[in-house]
Amino acid sequence: MGKKNKRREADAETELNTVNGDYSDNSQNAKKLKKKEKKKKNKNKDENEIPTVSIAVAASIIDNVPTLELATRLAGQIARAATIFRINEVVVFDNKGSPDQDSKVDNSDDESSAIFFIRVLQYLETPQYLRKALFPMHNNLRFVGLLPPLDAPHHLRKHEWGPYREGVSIKERDSNSGATLVDVGLVKHVLVDQVLEPGRRVTVAMGTNRNLDSDIQRQVVSSSKPREEGAYWGYQVRYAHNISSVFKDCTYKGGYDYIIGTSEHGQIIKSSDLEIPSFRHLLIAFGGLAGLEESIEEDENLKGKNAGDAFNIYLNTCPHQGSRTIRTEEAILISLQYFQEPISRALQS
Ligand SMILES: C[S@@+](CC[C@H](N)C(=O)[O-])C[C@H]1O[C@@H](n2cnc3c(N)ncnc32)[C@H](O)[C@@H]1O
Repeated sequence: MGKKNKRREADAETELNTVNGDYSDNSQNAKKLKKKEKKKKNKNKDENEIPTVSIAVAASIIDNVPTLELATRLAGQIARAATIFRINEVVVFDNKGSPDQDSKVDNSDDESSAIFFIRVLQYLETPQYLRKALFPMHNNLRFVGLLPPLDAPHHLRKHEWGPYREGVSIKERDSNSGATLVDVGLVKHVLVDQVLEPGRRVTVAMGTNRNLDSDIQRQVVSSSKPREEGAYWGYQVRYAHNISSVFKDCTYKGGYDYIIGTSEHGQIIKSSDLEIPSFRHLLIAFGGLAGLEESIEEDENLKGKNAGDAFNIYLNTCPHQGSRTIRTEEAILISLQYFQEPISRALQS
């Protein structure tokens, strides 16, 4: 919790004691007040809900790159930044006026920057041993082999054992067994306790039995289960046709409850002084070459609005910059480092 919060809490305690005319047992009253406040906060939170941090990134950053190889490297940098800072969701947004210009992932070679960007992000997030099964050959992926791996906790190696492994379903053992073979990247496939169509990505609870020759059926669990136990388990990727649909089409129940915009035109606040309120789903947005202000201007749903209306807070995370422009991929790294402490304070409050 931040110093200011603590001070406010202390002021509230003093005020309450004074109002009650009771100066005799400050510590007990303080404890009661803290309990009451905690109860009030928790009432608004779903007990099982784990807080998430999302970033939104303008797809246009890919348009300004001259070659496929450089575009691939740029997408790879965003994927690395998202992983290093344990980001749960990356939203790639276009600057389209209306949804009918929407894009869909297909296998044609002539695709938008957003689709390319999403494909590379998803590919990198997928453990290496699943990629062949889940990603058909595509020109977009021609240079992904040059990228440094994300080396995320769910990218386990062949000899490593973990409580969970990502896998892809191979085939039903037989229609009556109720089990499916799953490739979890070990020397042998494992059996899971469900009938699954082939080619589905699943999270498998590996249990304690390490004998891969046994017929033991392991459990398929929700992909959020490892996260519930404190592990970082990669990011989801989502497309939005403009900045307003980044907010509106949020897939988390209740939407984002705190949205931060970033820009050189934003407010300057020291990271140690920034107070992000306790959140369920935090979103941090990054613009393209012309910034988030252009994305807001071009969005029909945000007519007449400015950055101050669109975001809870609009921040300059790198004041006194020496270069006239900070590129989006640089701003993401700088900003996510800047937000680290305020986010962890918010999560503790
Ligand atoms: C090339 S810059 C865009 C410049 C634009 N004039 C703007 O609004 O900042 C691309 C993106 O990098 C991020 N960015 C650049 N400089 C920043 C700064 N000093 N603080 C926070 N974010 C910054 C913003 O997300 C911005 O939309």
